[in-house]
Amino acid sequence: MRIRDFEVKDCDRIVEILKANQQYGHPEMDGPEAMKRVAECQAAEFLVAEEDGQVVGMIRGVFDGSRAIIYIASVHPDYQRRGIGRALVRAIAERFKARGAQSLSVVIPGEVGFWAKMHFRQTTRIMTAHPIDSVLEA
Ligand SMILES: CC(C)(COP(=O)(O)OP(=O)(O)OC[C@H]1O[C@@H](n2cnc3c(N)ncnc32)[C@H](O)[C@@H]1OP(=O)(O)O)[C@@H](O)C(=O)NCCC(=O)NCCS
Repeated sequence: MRIRDFEVKDCDRIVEILKANQQYGHPEMDGPEAMKRVAECQAAEFLVAEEDGQVVGMIRGVFDGSRAIIYIASVHPDYQRRGIGRALVRAIAERFKARGAQSLSVVIPGEVGFWAKMHFRQTTRIMTAHPIDSVLEA
């Protein structure tokens, strides 16, 4: 397994992985154009895992100078439970630690088992306003 920074050529395969995991409900936030913007964002870390030259997992998140948060992690169903998710989380944690982060959070849409294994504990809740215009109308 090899972990490296996301490259634009990875977009189609990442869409495939997100779709396979039912994580592609918002193409405007997770599709190729969004991925390219994340890759350009200085605050973001966007990593992929490769097996035999093929992308099999991804993780992305942000460090704002104080706190770090993972927004999406996804490992292709055919490659789950082989340590790839753990390697991706450790790799992004190393990146954020090197930038000065002291804690790491994650946005979890589904089950918490994997994250508990990775020593994440439920503390705060995340609430989302989507679309963002709904906040402007509040
Ligand atoms: C969650 C996910 C990223 C984990 O990746 P993975 O490569 O399967 O995880 P790993 O093989 O590295 O597992 C690391 C440890 O967590 C455990 N684990 C993995 N998935 C688990 C689950 N669903 N429930 C409980 N434990 C789990 C593993 O058994 C392993 O523990 P062990 O070393 O004691 O055996 C992957 O299953 C996935 O992409 N799921 C669908 C999308 C998703 O839920 N993403 C996360 C929210 S953004």
